[in-house]
Amino acid sequence: MARELTKPEWAGARYTILLDENTFQHCLPQVISQVEALQEAEFIEVPAGEECKSLEVAVQVWQTLLDGGADRQHVLVNLGGGSVCDLGGFVAAGYKRGLRHINIPTTLLSMTDAAIGGKTAIDFGGVKNSIGFFHPAELTVIDHAFCNTLPTEEIANGLMEMVKTSAVTDNTLFEQLTNAATLTKQHIVEVAKMKNQIVKADPYDHGIRKILNFGHTFGHAIEMYSHLPHGISVGVGMLAAMYLSTKKLGLAEEIYLSYSKWISAKVKLPKYTLKDIEKMLPLMHQDKKAKEGAVRCVLLQEIGAAAIDIDVSDHELRDAFLHI
Ligand SMILES: NC(=O)c1ccc[n+]([C@@H]2O[C@H](COP(=O)([O-])OP(=O)(O)OC[C@H]3O[C@@H](n4cnc5c(N)ncnc54)[C@H](O)[C@@H]3O)[C@@H](O)[C@H]2O)c1
Ligand SMILES: [Zn+2]
Repeated sequence: MARELTKPEWAGARYTILLDENTFQHCLPQVISQVEALQEAEFIEVPAGEECKSLEVAVQVWQTLLDGGADRQHVLVNLGGGSVCDLGGFVAAGYKRGLRHINIPTTLLSMTDAAIGGKTAIDFGGVKNSIGFFHPAELTVIDHAFCNTLPTEEIANGLMEMVKTSAVTDNTLFEQLTNAATLTKQHIVEVAKMKNQIVKADPYDHGIRKILNFGHTFGHAIEMYSHLPHGISVGVGMLAAMYLSTKKLGLAEEIYLSYSKWISAKVKLPKYTLKDIEKMLPLMHQDKKAKEGAVRCVLLQEIGAAAIDIDVSDHELRDAFLHI
């Protein structure tokens, strides 16, 4: 990154680093010591986690930029997880019709997913990611060393989304991730590249990019109903989606069974009764992928071959929930 910022396109840039209390403590010292261009940067601290993705916090950041006289030469450097990157991208998209921004993701999930692909958002009106823009970062800098200070739960969340990306794109990567004893830098790089490849093919999410929603229709319902973290919910959601894939698209049963074994070792699987499932079905119909009564899911023909917009009946949804 240090070398990148000496390129002519960054000449005259002034930098403001957006961070939260954890990345201030664990990540800022490393960044400042390694990147000369950022040594004079101002910084703005926002609340940690999802709490920063609000209009109120965005307004505070805009005000601070205005008060500091930031013009369009200014560059916002988002140093944090998906929350800081989503907020920072949103703020950058709106300020003076668009500032350049750089993402330095500091969680496993943001290195492999959230900081790549140009989607920015805040939560508004009680709805997650309801207001946002496509505003890609000029640069995304991945340093896996930031994972060293992450809580275990955050590693698990990131791993589930990594497995998701591999499941819809690449059998070898999927096998590696679900068999590896430890995650390596190479795994992170491979998944980040894969995500980048998909978003480049469909930057505005009209087609192929939807495969990244694999496991999410079930996952969102599980997240809301069981109050499990997002990544873990998606991990469980993928199990239900794989089960349906064996029934509807001929995914090999062994794949479902071996994933079932893997996820059961990582996560305590929630058990749902029919009564629970009846409460979860409306959550799935509310999901943005539900159209005209049918719930539409991403399913797999095989690992690495996903199909989008597959209609799934309530009967099939119940069956999948009961099975997992
Ligand atoms: N834009 C996209 O394409 C996209 C994709 C997926 C998810 N997201 C969004 O990402 C957000 C979740 O991001 P996340 O999972 O990265 O979590 P997060 O950004 O909310 O961070 C989780 C916690 O980890 C802390 N943290 C961050 N880096 C740390 C480090 N190196 N050491 C110690 N603590 C650290 C944070 O301060 C926070 O408390 C959600 O809002 C989600 O909607 C966006
Ligand atoms: Zn997700």
